[in-house]
Amino acid sequence: MSGHIPVMLEEVLATLQPRSGAIYLDATFGGGGYAAAILAAADCTLWAIDRDPDAIARGAALAAAHPGRLHLMHACFGDMLESLGRHGVTALDGVVMDLGMSSFQIDQAERGFSFRTEGPLDMRMGRSGPSAADLVNTLPEAELARILAEFGEERHARRVARAILRERATAPITTTGRLASIIRSAVPRDPSGMDGATRSFQGLRIAVNDELGEIERGLSAAETLLAPGGRLVVVSFHSLEDRIVKRHMARATGRAGAASRHDPASLMPRAAPDFAALTNRAARPGDAETRSNPRARSARLRGMERLSGIRA
Ligand SMILES: C[S@@+](CC[C@H](N)C(=O)[O-])C[C@H]1O[C@@H](n2cnc3c(N)ncnc32)[C@H](O)[C@@H]1O
Repeated sequence: MSGHIPVMLEEVLATLQPRSGAIYLDATFGGGGYAAAILAAADCTLWAIDRDPDAIARGAALAAAHPGRLHLMHACFGDMLESLGRHGVTALDGVVMDLGMSSFQIDQAERGFSFRTEGPLDMRMGRSGPSAADLVNTLPEAELARILAEFGEERHARRVARAILRERATAPITTTGRLASIIRSAVPRDPSGMDGATRSFQGLRIAVNDELGEIERGLSAAETLLAPGGRLVVVSFHSLEDRIVKRHMARATGRAGAASRHDPASLMPRAAPDFAALTNRAARPGDAETRSNPRARSARLRGMERLSGIRA
């Protein structure tokens, strides 16, 4: 099993600017790449969250190497306010979020994330709750099609959903391999050479883990927790994630704008924004990184800093 190569690590550190004595949260600990770099960059305290119990278990060695400085929590970042609150942490100097899956998850066939390897149809980052097999074998056709279209951006979602219902009537679909071949036979070959199962697997994974809901809740909670001068740095990997991050940051930094100049909101005096953008537009990885780490290709980094203001 290969490890996880942290994406845009230099840019994350340059945006976060870790300081000694400060308190940070790594909301997506994963392989601990960002965490190790933050701990090395300054004599700070780092809280770290991951919903995957395997990631938390792997982090024990890093915590032992930094006694009293790294605190690992098995939780969803959407619940960060409660998780940190239980430890008396109510304000942070920075939060980093590196969205999506880790290479540890995708590379382990038994986690069921990959359409390239045969495994149980699972896809649960947190190893609890309904699995991808539960969704695929029980959801009504229209709901399945909605998930594939909305979260997978699969243009042939209805055809895929129809094929899944036809096949599950013969026997429950329990493996990644069988689902991938059902999907591939339902969609036309992609001219770019992309595997026909890519979009549908993404859609199912997002639904199984309520990923977009988690991002909404996580961003709102991070905004609440950041103290003046505190920085939020988010790396996303596809347009659905980035759209949510962009919208949140535009609103927090006062760049959202009224819907139209006829909108009464455009006539109201605007309150000064509580945050300032640290990235004008999303930062992208450099050529060297995308050459050496294909996973970095779609990465986008956005950041903002709390100026002042009473936290919501
Ligand atoms: C891309 S990896 C992070 C890699 C990490 N930055 C590193 O350098 O090793 C994303 C991690 O976030 C976790 N994750 C995804 N969504 C989460 C959520 N809503 N709450 C907590 N952890 C989450 C995944 O389990 C995964 O381990």
